[in-house]
Amino acid sequence: MQRLIRISEVFAPLHEEILSRCGIRSAKRLGREYWLFSCDEAWDAAQHEASLWLRWNMRLDHAWPCVPEKTEDFIEKSAMALMRKFATAPLQQVMVGPLLSGSPHPLYKKMAAQLQQRLRMEFPLPCRDRDPELQDPEGLTMFVLLGKEGLFASVSTPRECGGFYAGGSKHISHRAAHSISRAGAKVAEALHFLRLHRPPLAESSQWLELGASPGGMTAELLERGFEVIAVDRAPMDARVASHPRLQSFAENARTFQPPRGTLYDALLCDMNGSAEESLEVVISKISCLRSGAIVVFTMKTHRAADLSEILALHQRVLRQAKIGGLVFLAQTHLTYNRNEFTLFWKVP
Ligand SMILES: C[S@@+](CC[C@H](N)C(=O)[O-])C[C@H]1O[C@@H](n2cnc3c(N)ncnc32)[C@H](O)[C@@H]1O
Repeated sequence: MQRLIRISEVFAPLHEEILSRCGIRSAKRLGREYWLFSCDEAWDAAQHEASLWLRWNMRLDHAWPCVPEKTEDFIEKSAMALMRKFATAPLQQVMVGPLLSGSPHPLYKKMAAQLQQRLRMEFPLPCRDRDPELQDPEGLTMFVLLGKEGLFASVSTPRECGGFYAGGSKHISHRAAHSISRAGAKVAEALHFLRLHRPPLAESSQWLELGASPGGMTAELLERGFEVIAVDRAPMDARVASHPRLQSFAENARTFQPPRGTLYDALLCDMNGSAEESLEVVISKISCLRSGAIVVFTMKTHRAADLSEILALHQRVLRQAKIGGLVFLAQTHLTYNRNEFTLFWKVP
């Protein structure tokens, strides 16, 4: 069988090593971030620690290697082939995207939109116009990626592949009106990703945020209707500081005692410094979190010199969280993460 995986371009110097550590000996590169490789059925990303870098991981069910822009009636021929092949699949949605993410070639962006529209008309989808985020993470979706190397498709679940959109990324602008910094888009992306693993938090949820200044993430949480207790040694930006649903504390998060009597629904930690020290602070706050609360943690890796050190750090962080009483939910590398990863746990 063949699989299509994606690794962010920001890790370009590590690409070869990541592939090799995932047990992939030979792979064909597609676009800037995708690789196509052959493997046996038993290949399981989860068995390789370096799968931490895989943003998308899709079993390939149909491929048409060709040059779409030079292929007559490409959209129609692709649609017919996919309709024949997956005629009886109980699909919830069809998601088509370009192989080049970020700033895709306008032609492939347009072709992806046309093919998606064509396929959505043909398949008896329960809610073809519904927000892609409302897909069942465990339901069957047809994912199609296309680019100058051809068309690559699968019928899989969003959770198996690692996203609701083909290739995994939802475009989230960091220029929203309420935005204070790019970090706002990072938490928006993290919450989008988390839907693959659990239902979204209720609007009235209360967040404890450690390392909140200047408030990029805080602004995004407030925009979503959440209440936030923000802690940072540095001050909050004036644009959020007096928000009625925000209480901010200019303190060391290590010694900070949250107001008594509140059990929080979620904890967000974006503190800089050592990941293990930050996680220690997070664990010290577990008693302030309700059962089932989620923890969203940015694992900073800037002190790790190479891939082996990042992997070792990651393993230590996972162990530390488990011993500390957190239950692992998911992990990913987001578009707005540079050399860092976002990890999710829940409180039992
Ligand atoms: C990457 S910045 C956070 C950016 C922020 N999340 C945003 O969205 O704008 C890291 C922050 O962690 C804070 N920090 C690191 N260690 C801390 C500690 N022990 N107590 C309080 N704040 C801490 C720093 O002051 C810094 O503002």
